[in-house]
Amino acid sequence: MLILAHRGASFEAPENTLSAFGRALDAGADGIELDIYPLQDEWIVFHDRYLTRLTAHPGRLQDLTLAQVRKLKVFGQQPVPTLDEALAFIAGRCLVNIELKGADITRGLTRHLRHAVTAHGFRNEQLLVSSFNHHWLKQLKDDHPAQYLGALTTACPLDYAAFAAQLNAWSVHIDVDFVTQAFVDDAHQRGLKVFVFTVDEPEDILELDAMGVDGIFCNHPAAARNILKGRPM
Ligand code: G3P
Ligand code: MG
Repeated sequence: MLILAHRGASFEAPENTLSAFGRALDAGADGIELDIYPLQDEWIVFHDRYLTRLTAHPGRLQDLTLAQVRKLKVFGQQPVPTLDEALAFIAGRCLVNIELKGADITRGLTRHLRHAVTAHGFRNEQLLVSSFNHHWLKQLKDDHPAQYLGALTTACPLDYAAFAAQLNAWSVHIDVDFVTQAFVDDAHQRGLKVFVFTVDEPEDILELDAMGVDGIFCNHPAAARNILKGRPM
């Protein structure tokens, strides 16, 4: 089962920063999940619509200029990276799951991804774009059929992973609270990988592994790796 570092190794370092991504790589994570918002002509790696929790600055991310965001520090420690900076830092060393928040995907996202392939050593299949907004994913896939997609859901729909198959996604990502064996089996029958978020408890990690889940998003990849190492084979 793959281990994907949720917002980087966010248990050990401020989430969605180069520091958290470095910790994830040190822990041997198979992938790094990060969240992005569009801002002016850039994509900013950040999870929240509002700035307060992460930076103690009032107001919304979208109301700041790029120059203002660049002066902020996540938890008073680490700068907010752009997507380009994050991809240049990770440099093809693991899979990257880029989760679109507040997106306008016409803003040249694929130009940034192509640049990551030509300049930063990524292969296409290492750049997985996901979102809870399936309309954005559909638009992206319609415009760029080769793009790898991860379809996100918190719900376990009546027709299970049908929505992800309809999107021609590579993977379906479901909340740990709602994943079931039937969902996993249905997704696999449709040729989809199943990744589950956000999983840090040993019991959950072992149970999901036994269910045949393909990967988990966790905040503490080093701990998850140790738990999986100790499991009965
Ligand atoms: O991509 C999985 C997970 O990150 C989705 O939820 O809120 O942590 O971005 P959230
Ligand atoms: Mg996310």
